[in-house]
Amino acid sequence: MGVAATSSQTTKTDGAPDFLSAVAALRALTARDLEAVNAEILARMQSPVDMIPEMAGHLINAGGKRIRPMLTLAAARLIGQDADYDGRHHVALAAAVELIHGATLLHDDVVDASILRRGAKTANIIWGNKESVLVGDFIFSRAFELMVAAKDLRVLQVLSRASSVIAEGEVLQLATQKNIAATVDMYLAVVEAKTAALFAAAAQAGALIAGAGAAGETALREYGRNLGVAYQLVDDALDYAGAEGALGKSVGDDFREGKMTLPVVYAVDRAAPEEKPFWRRVIAEGRVEAEDFDRARELMQRDNAIADTIALARRYAKAAIDNLSEVPRNEYSAALADLVESSVSRAF
Ligand code: IPE
Ligand code: IPE
Ligand code: MG
Ligand code: MG
Repeated sequence: MGVAATSSQTTKTDGAPDFLSAVAALRALTARDLEAVNAEILARMQSPVDMIPEMAGHLINAGGKRIRPMLTLAAARLIGQDADYDGRHHVALAAAVELIHGATLLHDDVVDASILRRGAKTANIIWGNKESVLVGDFIFSRAFELMVAAKDLRVLQVLSRASSVIAEGEVLQLATQKNIAATVDMYLAVVEAKTAALFAAAAQAGALIAGAGAAGETALREYGRNLGVAYQLVDDALDYAGAEGALGKSVGDDFREGKMTLPVVYAVDRAAPEEKPFWRRVIAEGRVEAEDFDRARELMQRDNAIADTIALARRYAKAAIDNLSEVPRNEYSAALADLVESSVSRAF
């Protein structure tokens, strides 16, 4: 199995660098820009309404891997080396990307009734649902202020489109929830929208602002999209096979909410006729008892539902590596390749 079920965060499976090291390498490579991104984010969270900087500060200070803004920064530098880009707008765009992500997390934790995020209590638990929704809206709006400041209509179009697609994805997911007839294609449509769209837009925006030609822009957008799908597939496997301490968020949230993520789609499809009522009860009817999560995990293990979810993630990761063959080879493209290769064996 590709996912390290409960073991260390640095498990290697196939010679790829471990995920922690790949994220650290990308962070080191983009360190100066990323510092400016973090300062920009903090500045944009200021408001005379005290609860806003308090809540936003809670989410931001809790950490977060900053993968999406690093995609913007790395894409801009990757292209910029050849295109003689020496601007600063990629920093504002990367900050906007992380703000969009942060706003969706505030909203997502309300929708998913989650209690743990980035190793800390969620804002909805500390402050409440209403507060999370409204501060999420504030953060979204700040992201748009930042994007406009970059004065590039194409970039504005890419990032604003991604924002509406994310919302569509979250709504589409609600519509498939508890539906045990949901298919792989329905699941992938949700993932493309709620997760891959922002990964794609983050990389594309960085490429565009640095003056990429059409081929470079498309390659980086598709790299982001394929990485995003792979990333969410692994995330959905980890909701069954992961360890809470490493993840910084709860395991079993998707099960409790009756989410038709890929491990469940596979497990339902492969269940024996006498096992179908189990899935109907826990997913469709939402009547979950104490031992049900373990039972679900056993059935998934037996029927390779987790392993095949990871196998599909590997296919998307491979496609993302192929996308990188269309962009210049430099330290940035190498770091992006390591990121995607290691993301399929991550444990957090
Ligand atoms: C969490 O994203 C949401 C998913 C798409 C799975 P990350 O795993 O990038 O979360 P942070 O930003 O590092 O907390
Ligand atoms: C992540 O979705 C949020 C978005 C991509 C909008 P999930 O609900 O699957 O992710 P976690 O597990 O809460 O991070
Ligand atoms: Mg969630
Ligand atoms: Mg969710």
